[in-house]
Amino acid sequence: MQDDLERVLFDEGTILTRLDEMAAQISEDYRDRELTVIAVLNGGTKTTGEVVFKQIALPEVAGRHILILDDILDSGLTLSAIRRKLEIARPKSIKVCVLLKKRIERLAPIEADYVGFEIGNEFVVGYGLDYMERYRNLPCVGVLRKELIAA
Ligand code: IMP
Ligand code: MG
Repeated sequence: MQDDLERVLFDEGTILTRLDEMAAQISEDYRDRELTVIAVLNGGTKTTGEVVFKQIALPEVAGRHILILDDILDSGLTLSAIRRKLEIARPKSIKVCVLLKKRIERLAPIEADYVGFEIGNEFVVGYGLDYMERYRNLPCVGVLRKELIAA
């Protein structure tokens, strides 16, 4: 499976080290406050640009400090839709944390407060990121070989 990568961007050790740093930063920033973390399990696909909420039941967020966790900030459509949805429930604060952030112009107005790594405009897989539900289990993040991506 690793043969399907054009190149590895971040190996497991690099990712784990960075995650530790981010966790320490977040713990420090929320030292005196209780934090509610909302993890986005499936951000949706890049195909329609429309975000559909399949699971409508959101956790209780009113008056809480919310941290939204996602794998990657790409167009920003997913995270901004989730953020707007959560804002309706009047949390005390909302911040966004992503493992990866693409260095591109966003289609939706959203920025991340905590970023693991910045990457270029390339399609990456591994460490939870998939291409058609594959490669999630790779222990590293890498660029998928272009010829494996359907035109
Ligand atoms: P958005 O374009 O910022 O809304 O990103 C939506 C979702 O698309 C992300 O949460 C990922 O699941 C997926 N995605 C975007 N870019 C990539 C990539 O390079 N590799 C794998 N998944 C991606
Ligand atoms: Mg995906």
